[in-house]
Amino acid sequence: MKKILIAIDGYSSCGKSTMAKTLAKQIGYTYIDSGAMYRAATLFCLQNNLFAGGELNGEALKKRLPDLHISFEENRETGLSETFLNGENVERRIRSMEIAAKVSPVAAVGFVREEMVKQQQAMGLGKGIVMDGRDIGTVVFPDAELKIFVTASPEIRAQRRLAELTAKGEKTTFEEVLHNLTERDYIDSTRKDGPLRQAEDAVVLDNSDLTIAEQNQYLLKLFKERI
Ligand code: DC
Repeated sequence: MKKILIAIDGYSSCGKSTMAKTLAKQIGYTYIDSGAMYRAATLFCLQNNLFAGGELNGEALKKRLPDLHISFEENRETGLSETFLNGENVERRIRSMEIAAKVSPVAAVGFVREEMVKQQQAMGLGKGIVMDGRDIGTVVFPDAELKIFVTASPEIRAQRRLAELTAKGEKTTFEEVLHNLTERDYIDSTRKDGPLRQAEDAVVLDNSDLTIAEQNQYLLKLFKERI
């Protein structure tokens, strides 16, 4: 059967990765979490003291960029893909609030995006990919056969994210999570390179009032229509 590219973009904590993962599994496609790459790049900056003084040192990052290697490997026990930074499994660390608070400035750097987009496009060459992020339908795969733009109210998104972080044992509050995601959305939508915006040919999905099962059914219907 013909394979296609599926691009899922949208605001922070809309449940994009849950929907992309579930859909990919059901249709036998590979799921790629592009946000994990920007998160891993942020961890690299922290490990190399590139935030000294609070601001990201872009010059130093440019010099160190050749030492930044990100890859994905499947965890055989869970069957889920995990993120590796220079050979080290960083899947858990990159999901922390510490990384969430610093990732947007890193993701706004033009040369970082250029490198990530190049790698993401290489991953999509054979099609059969579901990739989620902010610029997948607009920059990474502008010719993707199916593009979804996901949104939900900020309060609902903050509530979902808080539940996720709390379940992992992270101490944070609703206000802190809401502030973080509103700030990230602002930086992600207003940056010069690859800003978050809806592709003209994307299907908009507001999942504020949808269950995961309802959302999944809808996506499967769209997928079947496209192939
Ligand atoms: O989807 P996420 O929350 O894991 O993404 C982390 C950050 O990375 C998010 O604030 C924006 C950035 N990002 C991006 O700029 N482009 C992408 N394709 C994916 C994520």
